[in-house]
Amino acid sequence: MPALRIEGYVIVSADGMLADATHVMPDALKFEGDKAFFTEALDRADLVVHGRHSYEDQPNSPLRKRIIVTRTVAGIGPDPSNPKAALWNPAGVSFEAACDHAGVSAGTVAVIGGPVVFDMFLDRYDTFWLSQAPHVRLAGGEAVFSGVPVQTPQEILARHGLKAGQSQMLDAANGVSVTPWRRSA
Ligand SMILES: NC(=O)c1ccc[n+]([C@@H]2O[C@H](COP(=O)([O-])OP(=O)(O)OC[C@H]3O[C@@H](n4cnc5c(N)ncnc54)[C@H](OP(=O)(O)O)[C@@H]3O)[C@@H](O)[C@H]2O)c1
Repeated sequence: MPALRIEGYVIVSADGMLADATHVMPDALKFEGDKAFFTEALDRADLVVHGRHSYEDQPNSPLRKRIIVTRTVAGIGPDPSNPKAALWNPAGVSFEAACDHAGVSAGTVAVIGGPVVFDMFLDRYDTFWLSQAPHVRLAGGEAVFSGVPVQTPQEILARHGLKAGQSQMLDAANGVSVTPWRRSA
């Protein structure tokens, strides 16, 4: 079994969008139940990976080791604004080397977006936790994966070898649930 477990986390609208047409995650996609689920998951993670605009901004965020995906460095380097973070360009350095640089050789890696970063790990997720808000639509918004809306997020996860597990309700009033998409052995 690989030493690093890679888990993805996102909440999307009914049409597979993670942000609106202005590249902002609107309040319409924010639900207390989903926020609590996401916060607990990140508190358990050993490393968080994301793009420049996908910082989770939670009370425990400053405590977390993180890797920021960017083309502003050739390979890997310190983040001048955060001593617990590194800047990583996948074109120059492997993910394993970036994790080594971050001091993480085992445990859980939480991948939290945005779309470019979610796409990069499609063949590597052990589990992708897909939360969905079925009553929210964000026409013209920013899709979770580059293949949406030609395919649904679920079709894309299945195409990359993941299978849906048991969904869990996070907000019954708004029908928001999370489904773990797990890689079969
Ligand atoms: N609903 C949700 O659960 C959820 C989850 C995540 C994000 N969001 C929202 O979605 C929006 C995300 O914004 P965003 O699209 O700007 O995503 P982002 O992932 O924050 O930003 C794109 C990142 O990818 C990097 N990048 C792009 N192409 C690259 C390449 N070829 N090689 C290396 N790095 C590359 C960019 O680096 P450089 O430009 O520095 O090179 C940048 O850091 C935000 O509003 C956020 O709040 C929502």
